[in-house]
Amino acid sequence: MRLPLRVQLIDVGPRDGLQNEKTPVPAEVKIGLVHRLQQAGLKEIEVTSYVSPKWVPQMADNHEVMAGIARQSGVRYSVLTPNLQGFAAAVQDRPDEIVVFGAASEAFSQKNINCSIAESIERFAPVVEAALAAGIAVRGAMSCTVGCPYEGEIAPERVSYLAGLMKGIGVQRVDVADTIGVGTPRTVQRAIEATLLHYSLDQVSGHFHDTYGQALVNTLAALQMGVWNFQSSVAGLGGCPYAKGATGNVATEDLVYLLHGMGIETGIDLDALIDAGVYISDFLGRKPNSRVSVARLNKRAA
Ligand code: HMG
Ligand code: MG
Repeated sequence: MRLPLRVQLIDVGPRDGLQNEKTPVPAEVKIGLVHRLQQAGLKEIEVTSYVSPKWVPQMADNHEVMAGIARQSGVRYSVLTPNLQGFAAAVQDRPDEIVVFGAASEAFSQKNINCSIAESIERFAPVVEAALAAGIAVRGAMSCTVGCPYEGEIAPERVSYLAGLMKGIGVQRVDVADTIGVGTPRTVQRAIEATLLHYSLDQVSGHFHDTYGQALVNTLAALQMGVWNFQSSVAGLGGCPYAKGATGNVATEDLVYLLHGMGIETGIDLDALIDAGVYISDFLGRKPNSRVSVARLNKRAA
């Protein structure tokens, strides 16, 4: 076991977490969430996406949200851009990093971004080139690296194929996403191993949805391989509109508790993070979807 001493977390709550919410969340509340996350010590926050407002209405206020954030130095603000139209809109808001998002499954690629895997790479290539020329970092999200809601199990070879395509167009680092949370430690490790054929350990992050309750154990499996970048969602918010039934990412609170308990540094203040989760959960009218948060809140109330 070669566990990392430090883990870098990207909170994707404002984007992955909120994109699936039916009730419109005002930009002001999204900005309030980003402010609380950075106050809690998050150094990377996935803020919004520049996608079709007809497809994902919740992200239509991308400009307003990005313009409203009081940026903290040392924090990286990332946004999703599926094509040049999205990039042209995003660049006005000066993100630190853009994310192109593809899938290891053809059917999911079609449902999510309305094109094949090959076409998606053709669309991403000029986006990556323009971003790098503008000094903006580039990440690639790889959906359905373990299972797909339309195709079932996904073989590691397909993950390696996508990672190779991402590498070929200049994507600097990639997320191994278990979009529908069906993975277990060995299947997730195989998806990561397939990615490591093209990217180094420092360039790979884990993005695990918790639909089947496996995200924490899958994180541990990835940590044991030396992966030290992970994405998670405050209060366990979220899901993907094109992966029916998929729930949110693993809750950042639960991940931070796990990491700190193992002596792994995150730079995050768990109590402040719990407060950030309560803030957005109160707005949505529900309890945080985090076991750690609920336990700590019960303890606070006692
Ligand atoms: P399309 O229909 O193929 O695009 O959509 P098009 O080029 O044919 O244009 C059609 C219309 O969309 C036009 O508008 C364009 O202006 C507009 P109209 O003339 O009909 O009024 N359009 C855009 N509008 C705003 N921003 C843009 C843009 N591009 C075109 N960038 C597109 C292609 C990708 C835009 C569409 O399929 C889409 O928006 N899909 C939504 C994808 C999405 O946001 N999915 C969720 C995020 S991914 C995720 O959650 C997974 C992840 O978390 C990892 C994991 O867990 O797996 C990352
Ligand atoms: Mg996701």
